[in-house]
Amino acid sequence: MSDLDRLRSLDGAKWSKYGPDVLASWVADMDFPPDPQVGEAICRVAERGDLGYNFAALDQLHPTWSAWVERRHGLRLDTERMKTFTGALHAMESVMDVMTEPGDGVVVFTPVYHVFINAIRSGGRRVVEVPLGPGYTLDADALADTIDETTKMVFFSQPHNPTGRIYTREELQALGRVAKEHDLIIASDEIWADLAHLPNRHLPTAQGDPSIADRTVTIGSASKAFNLAALSCAIAHVGDQRVLDTWDAQSSHVHGRPSALSGEGTLAAWTRCEPWLDKTVAQLTENRDHLAARLATEVPEVGFDPPEAVYLAWIDFGATSLGDDPAAVLLDKAGVALNCGMEFGSNCEGFARLNFATTPEILDMVIDRIISAIKTGVTP
Ligand SMILES: Cc1ncc(COP(=O)(O)O)c(C=O)c1O
Repeated sequence: MSDLDRLRSLDGAKWSKYGPDVLASWVADMDFPPDPQVGEAICRVAERGDLGYNFAALDQLHPTWSAWVERRHGLRLDTERMKTFTGALHAMESVMDVMTEPGDGVVVFTPVYHVFINAIRSGGRRVVEVPLGPGYTLDADALADTIDETTKMVFFSQPHNPTGRIYTREELQALGRVAKEHDLIIASDEIWADLAHLPNRHLPTAQGDPSIADRTVTIGSASKAFNLAALSCAIAHVGDQRVLDTWDAQSSHVHGRPSALSGEGTLAAWTRCEPWLDKTVAQLTENRDHLAARLATEVPEVGFDPPEAVYLAWIDFGATSLGDDPAAVLLDKAGVALNCGMEFGSNCEGFARLNFATTPEILDMVIDRIISAIKTGVTP
């Protein structure tokens, strides 16, 4: 079976949302099958009929994640301060829920993962947009100028979706200064941490500026790195005592619980699948460089800063004929599905997000279609 046939046979949202003529480069799933050891771990539990109340794997998640982040990123976390959630957004929204009131401001550095914006809005909080500076750098002065006393927390993405930046120690310290001055809580979503392109390395927020570790909730997951979003499992390390006390006082049912099968799959990833991950990251880096080279040589009017991490390309089509919403035009007229840039914040007209976590052959087909649309001057 060809890669395309396999992908089109899946039930997952990425390849089933659009018709058979469309190439799917949108939602953040990879086109590579996960390491088979994840599926085997899940099947072992199912095959032995161990589907009653089974917490064996879930009980191992905190020490296993702790060992993983210490070894991979040098970040030491306290397992006594960890909570398990059914997704990164579940953890982020839970912090927002307990630490802010309706109407309070929640900061996002834009462009930003669009679901952050939706989560803040649907929680009845105010989206406080702080645009990233040149080169997608974090502008702490702009942050200080934008917030007021009703701004209570930051929805932070490190490495950053969609630009792929890994904020530096200096940027994190500048953020830290403002956060301390204005008593902001930082929910640091680090689920892309393991997808840094060498020689770049992930820098956890609580490590970049240890003085804000006690106002940071660090969120990790195996979902992005190992292509396991369907497992619905994330862990939060709660540096902030106020959040920890509030969560401790709540019924555990408020937080929910991933299934035993999610726990088994996640444990397998963190304990047995590192070679798969390293091989996958090497492929992603090749893809990133190939995409950048083709855009630069064949359509130099397109703007693209290759990301330091993640498998997402934040592309500026503003100088082409594609208009404010290039994703809509490319879907309609070129048969490629990207994410609409304008969902990622204000002033994102002309941008789209492309997912390059696919085989080199499919990536070339995607690039061919985009370049041909630009060269033939397709319009909305
Ligand atoms: C930065 C970021 N956070 C959270 C999520 C979603 O995570 P979950 O499905 O665990 O809520 C994504 C998915 O792409 C993401 O990119």
